[in-house]
Order: sequence, then C-alpha cells, then structure tokens
Amino acid sequence: MNDRLKTYTSNAPQSNLRGDYSRAGPGYVVDQCWDDYTAGEHALWRRLYERQIRLVPHYACREYLAILQTLDAAGKIPRFDEVSQGLRATTRWELVAVPGLIPDLVFFEHLAHRRFPVTNWLRKPEEFDYIVEPDVFHDFFGHVPLLFDPLYADYMEAYGKGGLKAAQLDSLKYLARLYWYTVEFGLMGAPEGLRVYGAGILSSGGEVVYSVENPTPRRVMFRLERLLRTDYRIDRYQDTYFVIESFKKLIDDTAPDFTPIYERIKALPLFAPDELVSGDVVVAPVPPS
Ligand code: PHE
Ligand code: CO
Repeated sequence: MNDRLKTYTSNAPQSNLRGDYSRAGPGYVVDQCWDDYTAGEHALWRRLYERQIRLVPHYACREYLAILQTLDAAGKIPRFDEVSQGLRATTRWELVAVPGLIPDLVFFEHLAHRRFPVTNWLRKPEEFDYIVEPDVFHDFFGHVPLLFDPLYADYMEAYGKGGLKAAQLDSLKYLARLYWYTVEFGLMGAPEGLRVYGAGILSSGGEVVYSVENPTPRRVMFRLERLLRTDYRIDRYQDTYFVIESFKKLIDDTAPDFTPIYERIKALPLFAPDELVSGDVVVAPVPPS
C-alpha cells in the first residue's frame, strides 16, 4: 500500500482528525512544540527519511534534489522556524505549524500570503508505509523543498489566490483537481527524463517508483481543461499522472483567468480517473533500472 493522502478538499476539521485543534487560533496556526517530539519519533523520522533518500535521486526532478541536499533534515524532525529563515531569504515563503488538515479557505489564505501550513505530528511506526492524513513527514519531505524554487514558489502563491477566487465562483472542485494532479501527484518531462515533483509521490516509498516505471497507469501531457475535468482516487496509487514540461510552462498554462473555463466545463462531462481522452499525448514509463 502507499501513503495515500487526502487533500485539503476534504479537510474541514472533523471529529475524526487526530491532531490537537484545541489550541488553534484563527488560521489554525499552532506552535510546532518541537521539544515535545520523543526520541522514538526522531528515530522514526530518520527511518522514513532514509528510505526516501535512497529512492529520490533516481526519480525526483533536479530542482527538488538540489534543495533537499541543503536542508539537513536527515537526522531529526526539522525545526520549522529554522527552515523558515532560509525560506524567507530565498523565496519569501515561510512555514507555519498546523494540527493537521485545515479548512479550504484558511489553507488558500496561507498560500496566497506565501505561508505553507505543515502538520506538526508524525505518524505512528505501524503507519510507516500507509497513512491516511498528511503528517509532518509528508508535508515536510514532500512539499517544503520545492518552496525554495522560485518558479514553484510563485505557482503555489498563484494557486492560493486562485483558490480564493474559485471559492467565489463555486468552482473549488475543479481547482482541487489541479492541486491534486500537480502539487501532489505531478510528473515532469525533465531533460533528464521523466521525473517526479508531486509531494504525495515524493513522500511515498512505493509510488515514487510506480509513478515513473510501472506500465499500468496512464501518463499524459498536461492539458488544463482535460485535467480540471478528471476525477481522482484518494485511496490508492493514481490511475493517471499529468506530465508538465517545466514549472515555467505550468505557470504559463495556469496564468489565464479560469472564470470562463469553469463556466464552460460545468456543462461538460467528467473524465474517469483511468480514462484516455481524445487529444491526450501519452508519455511512456521509464524502464526499471
Ligand atoms: N489563473 C487562475 C485563475 O484565474 C489562478 C490560478 C493560477 C490557479 C495558478 C491555480 C494555479 O483562477
Ligand atoms: Co500534501
């Protein structure tokens, strides 16, 4: 199994969420409480990190790898405030600790102001391979490195602003697919070959290999309207991955006003997660090495 993640689309705090929301103020920001992590939790973090660091050099995009090396996150759960210092200086982003999933609009407000919410708790040892809610390992290892990349950093801010706008237009379900298929499960047709930039893949021991090498799923070149109409599954590896050419191209493709696009596609049928659609440009998997 993979560490399948719900996204913020289903994240209104519910009674079944496991974080401690009692001290969360407006924005749901809490103290990371770094001193409360136990030696066992730091050790579990190390094991998770060691598994992924063996895999990502073969599968992650070079933008991600270049930054991961500089983060010094191998030995223990990182301190968000230390990482934020470097982030502020590099891309003007910062991390804020949250108890877990937060409401859509709160999430968008953070992104629109270049604040990335990171869950402050770590999974249990028995969740090494599979976790339902995002934890600090997913949020940090998967999402934080690329916030240091100037283009990706701008995309995330644009996404937050786009989310606030989509909410006004009653179109969140379309925009949520964009987050899912880019930020969480995106692939890039990089110069070095097919590579991963999606955080849900980068933090997963199984899907990082599967998404690039397995012949079963579809990989199709990114087309905005096609993607916005494509349903997704949250409980297993993806059926379809969308491949971008570069972060620059992703930003350009998502820059137009989505208002008329939402209007148009509301009248059109959805595509199933595993459907091949006319106009799709299929990308071949990389043979296992
Ligand atoms: N261009 C989008 C809009 O007008 C905003 C957006 C940008 C959304 C980038 C997502 C990513 O709604
Ligand atoms: Co995520």
